[in-house]
Amino acid sequence: CTVAVLMGGWSPEREVSLVSGKACAEGLREGGHTVVEYDVKRDLRALMDFLRPVSGGGPDVVFNALHGKYGEDGCVQGVLEILAVPYTHSGVLASAIAMDKPMSRHVFTSIGIRVAHGKVVERRSLLAGDPMPRPYVVKPIDQGSSVGVHIVREGDNLAAVEVAEASFGEKVLVEKFVPGRELTVAVMHDKPVGVTELRPRTRFYDYEAKYTEGITEHLVPAPIPAEVYEQARQWALLAHQTLGCNGLTRADFRWDDSKPRTEGLVMLELNTQPGMTPLSLAPEQAKWAGISWPQLMTWMVEHARR
Ligand code: DAL
Ligand code: MG
Repeated sequence: CTVAVLMGGWSPEREVSLVSGKACAEGLREGGHTVVEYDVKRDLRALMDFLRPVSGGGPDVVFNALHGKYGEDGCVQGVLEILAVPYTHSGVLASAIAMDKPMSRHVFTSIGIRVAHGKVVERRSLLAGDPMPRPYVVKPIDQGSSVGVHIVREGDNLAAVEVAEASFGEKVLVEKFVPGRELTVAVMHDKPVGVTELRPRTRFYDYEAKYTEGITEHLVPAPIPAEVYEQARQWALLAHQTLGCNGLTRADFRWDDSKPRTEGLVMLELNTQPGMTPLSLAPEQAKWAGISWPQLMTWMVEHARR
């Protein structure tokens, strides 16, 4: 069957998606699939003509390697549903909820998953002063790859943060900064894979630390107590299932290791289109679990939504 890899898009994560998409296309070819690559531009008609040409034909399955707005938030998923093309990863609802950080926080807390203390505020209210005691984190409502994420510490200029958020909307999410460690869990269908700890050499696991070779150390399996390890896996699976996700997802956590037992563990978010670049975490966990890159690609196509 012919697999079309959708990549690019026009979100701030365009470059990441192009790297993910190329890597996925390569893995699919290695796995014996016929692959066509498609760079998604802001032209819905062109996308629809590609997927369902009037002359007939078109790809049998879409491998969605898009990240960020329109590609990860249910929009392109809606187009694929209407055109009745099977596609990888999650459907409309799960994608939309997961991309919206405040909305997914509501769902997580309602099923007993701890999140950091946080609230949504008007961006401009930051000009009037701190929304909560420092340190805290300011995040756009619906971006990925840490784009637009700022940690506000003592001495930082809040007005500069407000300006930096201006292109992401009128509201921002502010969350209490959780000290400690950064963890992530990939979920493949009904199975949480492992837990990876990220140790960036920069101030936090930001865009640069995510996509520059050598900045971040990845420890898989994470050297953490077994009960924290298991709690992270269970919450990743619970979030995946409750949102109704499909195929591969990745849940991100902070763990304050100064707190007893699992009390310091909080979920940051669930990614329905986890990065698939050579430095990305979900493929690394799959590899650790014995699943090669072409095998993972084939698994994802087999688990496409139909
Ligand atoms: N948003 C990036 C691609 C990730 O979650 O890996
Ligand atoms: Mg994300």
